Amino acid sequence: MGRMDGRAAVVTGAAGGIGWATTKRYVEEGAKVVAADRDTERGEALVDDVGPDVTFLECDVSDPEQVRAAVDRCVADHGRIDVLFNNAATSTGGYVADLDLDGWDDSIRVMLSAPLYGMQAALPHMVERRSGSIINTSSVYGQVASAANAPYCAAKAGLINLTRVTAIEYGRLGIRCNAVCPGVVETPMFESVLGIGLTTRDEIAAMHAIGRTIQPSEIADLVLFLGSDESTAITGQAITIDGGLLCEVNLTGVPPLS
Ligand SMILES: NC(=O)c1ccc[n+]([C@@H]2O[C@H](COP(=O)([O-])OP(=O)(O)OC[C@H]3O[C@@H](n4cnc5c(N)ncnc54)[C@H](O)[C@@H]3O)[C@@H](O)[C@H]2O)c1
Repeated sequence: MGRMDGRAAVVTGAAGGIGWATTKRYVEEGAKVVAADRDTERGEALVDDVGPDVTFLECDVSDPEQVRAAVDRCVADHGRIDVLFNNAATSTGGYVADLDLDGWDDSIRVMLSAPLYGMQAALPHMVERRSGSIINTSSVYGQVASAANAPYCAAKAGLINLTRVTAIEYGRLGIRCNAVCPGVVETPMFESVLGIGLTTRDEIAAMHAIGRTIQPSEIADLVLFLGSDESTAITGQAITIDGGLLCEVNLTGVPPLS
């Protein structure tokens, strides 16, 4: 008996680290998944890896019609959509006064507007069945900030409150909406952070209470829990999954045990 038997899900950013791991985990637990991403090469590799219970769809989430097509495909193929995992991301950087406005608009569209597009497409189906779980990937950067990162931080913070509003509006209709806020996860996105060259992998690992970064499969386990009936009383939450990254402010200099 799988924890997602008979369920159908749409995962965006499915060809990336967290999306791939989550798609795999959902299928392992019995779900059918429509995997949406603009990266067709990795999308096809995902299908090779996970098997016939995943359908890959080329999708640019900054286009509402393409997001709707992913949801429609899920309903057409499986007769339902139980889980919508809004997870795709891309971002531009720079100090606030210097931000490129096209980059800002694109970042907000992909990380904040696209989850709205997905919800607008999925909610009518979920309302009809009085059941559904929407999970939005925010970040610790939805809760705290970093320099030269305004588009990402603003989009991820906005997504947390979009999550809460959705939870309030649709909770009485049987639909839950939560955000996950990962810390540092070993994916291509993290490699691009290391590529800036100002911090090392070891320095970043040492910032965590658990002394290491996070694996995509650990995020997938949380997204599985939130998509399953094991979390039926959890809605409107921004759940931090950061290995203790945000829990420390060390003013004394006293080192932790190791
Ligand atoms: N890796 C981390 O440390 C970390 C930390 C906190 C939050 N997150 C969040 O986790 C989510 C997944 O990121 P990841 O770490 O797996 O990164 P990733 O770069 O491996 O995956 C992101 C995926 O999104 C896809 N994508 C980007 N723009 C798209 C678009 N317009 N349309 C469709 N697909 C698009 C990419 O092709 C890629 O497959 C993101 O929302 C990210 O912000 C990641």
